[in-house]
Amino acid sequence: MSDAATITEELRRTEALYPIPAWDEERRKKRLWVLRPIKPGGVGLEAGVFRGCFSQYICEIAQPRKLYLFDTWRLSGETFGWGREYTCFGKLETAVARRETELRVSLFPDVDSVIIEGFSPACADQIEEALDWAYLDTTHQYRETLLELEHLEQMIAPGGLILGDDWAPDPNSPHHIAYRAVHDFVGRGHWETIKAGPGHQWALRRSA
Ligand SMILES: C[S@@+](CC[C@H](N)C(=O)[O-])C[C@H]1O[C@@H](n2cnc3c(N)ncnc32)[C@H](O)[C@@H]1O
Repeated sequence: MSDAATITEELRRTEALYPIPAWDEERRKKRLWVLRPIKPGGVGLEAGVFRGCFSQYICEIAQPRKLYLFDTWRLSGETFGWGREYTCFGKLETAVARRETELRVSLFPDVDSVIIEGFSPACADQIEEALDWAYLDTTHQYRETLLELEHLEQMIAPGGLILGDDWAPDPNSPHHIAYRAVHDFVGRGHWETIKAGPGHQWALRRSA
């Protein structure tokens, strides 16, 4: 990848074509606390990456040595087909979101970024080393989230962390089902909640 000015210029062009809503960036800033417990220099995973905006904060704050990035991107079709303003009313191309991710993480040459275009958790078989932490932000469905958490449990080293988005204890929230999956996973007794709530984030540490 070329130098930072060239990368920034390409991102400026794609963001002009496909604007990132101001509320999305505001919300992202409220989510950053969840990255603070991560020790720098580890091996991490972001599952559900979209345009790589949070990945950029992960590189800045968590400073991983290696960062795996899972998203279905083009495997889901040419466009996302959901998300209203978030996906520019269906116009944002999945290839552009992937390209933006490549650009954003390449601004951090000290991070060895590995982009894996695939369906989580099946694509996890492409990772052959233990992870120190993972950030989960994919389907927000019950069965799928529970399955991903079960896979992550096998992939994370002792003392490792699982973090994620959409902590929604309110049963009326559209994301409540993802919350239930995390809640039920913790209820099995092998992970404890370090902190959950602010910015709808949650952070778990292996307890057994
Ligand atoms: C909410 S967005 C992720 C946002 C990103 N973490 C951020 O904070 O900017 C969810 C992403 O998950 C991806 N996704 C949904 N189901 C997936 C699956 N089973 N495997 C991998 N990616 C998936 C979607 O393509 C989408 O880009």
